[in-house]
Amino acid sequence: MMTRKNVLTAVIGAALTFGATASAYAATTLKLSHNHPRDHAVHQAMDAMAKEVRALTDGEVRIRIYPDAQLGTQRESMELMQNGALEMVKTNAAELEAFAPAYAAFNLPYLFRDKSHYYNVKEGEVGEEILASSRDSGFVGVTYYDAGARSFYTSKPINTPEDLKGMKIRVQPSPSAIAMVNALGGSPTPLAYGELYTALQQGVVDAAENNIPSFSLSRHGEVSKYFSLDEHTMVPDVLVISTKAYDGLSEEHREALKTASMNSMELMKKLWAESEAKERTNAEKLGVKFVKPNKSAFVEAVQPMYDALETSNPELNAIVERIQAVQ
Ligand code: GCU
Repeated sequence: MMTRKNVLTAVIGAALTFGATASAYAATTLKLSHNHPRDHAVHQAMDAMAKEVRALTDGEVRIRIYPDAQLGTQRESMELMQNGALEMVKTNAAELEAFAPAYAAFNLPYLFRDKSHYYNVKEGEVGEEILASSRDSGFVGVTYYDAGARSFYTSKPINTPEDLKGMKIRVQPSPSAIAMVNALGGSPTPLAYGELYTALQQGVVDAAENNIPSFSLSRHGEVSKYFSLDEHTMVPDVLVISTKAYDGLSEEHREALKTASMNSMELMKKLWAESEAKERTNAEKLGVKFVKPNKSAFVEAVQPMYDALETSNPELNAIVERIQAVQ
């Protein structure tokens, strides 16, 4: 015979099972693809965001993160998202330039005066407008993540643009990155990130450029022993969601996503600083030398890119002027 306690336990158990099943049916799962390993700061920041979204929506919205380009390169992931096969992608402003031209602004060299200028732009009116600019192309920007500054790395120190002459330099598929390397005297070679290690190892390219954590965590320090801190660009990572998935969320769920993504963006600033220090040490342990070139010759060499903008790309020029006016 069942005691009262046993009956209660059975009833509660059944209710929990039913509840779990009911909420599992009601839950919306958003698949998120990116190309970094789990120990990259951006994965950790997005993991915190996914947990917060789940808590804020009582488990009704779940973000499932697929790291390491498991679902394809950044470009392939963007295409999968536009076709509705996944909902979110963590990419960066350089990759996005081909999908939404306003992101080009972030790929111009030496545009930001310092880190606080960069933060104020990302988190201010211009940054918000750029995130919203791609709505009709099938996706919207959710948030930016700090991704530090990008610098050149290869098998020799790069102290002046002269040192880049005749070198095949891997760039992202971004017209601005291509124009920058041309202005500095190198030969730009667009390649997907996942192909870069082998390309450097086999001499398909001579050099590449990135931030310290990505360089170190991709083990590029095994094949490129000099990292020259010319810090030419500050290209933020960007989390995007398909317009369809975003519009499919209730007002309340959109709010939860906004709150959690803003919190993860803040968290990322701290994770990024820690990761830059840690990965620099890790690279040094591998024998990588960090070189500090004088930036002025680099700044001067890219100036013609800005001079040309006014006539060649008035829309971008207008964004650049607004960014320069940000305090
Ligand atoms: C950074 C960025 C990636 C990007 C990579 C690249 O690491 O976080 O989103 O793919 O640069 O150079 O391709």
